[in-house]
Amino acid sequence: MAFCGPMTGRIKIAPSLLSARFDRLGEQIHEAVQAGADMFHIDVMDGHFVPNLTMGPAIVNAVRRVTEVPLDAHLMVTRPQDFVKAFADAGVNDLTVHVESDHDVRATVKAIRDAGVSPGLVLNPDTAFGKAVPFLADVDLLLVMTVHPGFAGQPFRRDVLSKIEEARAHIDREGLEVELEVDGGIKLDTAPLVAEAGADILVSGSGIFPDRVAENLRAMREAAEKAAHGRH
Ligand code: DX5
Ligand code: ZN
Repeated sequence: MAFCGPMTGRIKIAPSLLSARFDRLGEQIHEAVQAGADMFHIDVMDGHFVPNLTMGPAIVNAVRRVTEVPLDAHLMVTRPQDFVKAFADAGVNDLTVHVESDHDVRATVKAIRDAGVSPGLVLNPDTAFGKAVPFLADVDLLLVMTVHPGFAGQPFRRDVLSKIEEARAHIDREGLEVELEVDGGIKLDTAPLVAEAGADILVSGSGIFPDRVAENLRAMREAAEKAAHGRH
């Protein structure tokens, strides 16, 4: 197969558990695993950084017991540095923290790495890509939000596509080992746009859960991979 850059890698799909039915969480997870979910995205909200309260380490621990698929925890909290150990102990594989939170980003990233977890940085839709650049050599993931965080089911912000392209170009040019993840409003119609712009990992909540989970996931992967190949 001809070499055509990092985009030859398979697109990863990360179903977001926020849109799953919590009374049947184990069952919903198994359905997504059967359909090939690459990781589960877990939205942690503190009612302060965003106006919603969701899941904490106890839920992560319960999810960890039902699957070995990697767990990707997205911390939408004011002080992420206070929760690194709790989520590491609960069994996450990576922890992503917002540059907009109230912390010393470099110190939090180091604390995550020291806890044996992959660190990642998150950018809100209105935050410039440049805010992440000083930290990219130290993280494994860059998560670009295509909705303002807080709730599942919001409309995809097309104006963020140029930031995804900018991040893709920078990561490739600098040869960084950073996976580019995109989160918010990704459904069957918007997944191809994100894949074409250069994302490696697509997060989707209401585009996958709670009904027809396997069907939704497979259709999204097919649409995204077709669009990613179209880049060459
Ligand atoms: C939004 C969360 C997202 C959300 C995605 O604050 O960070 O991960 O669960 O849900 P959808 O895909 O429905 O926008
Ligand atoms: Zn999220």
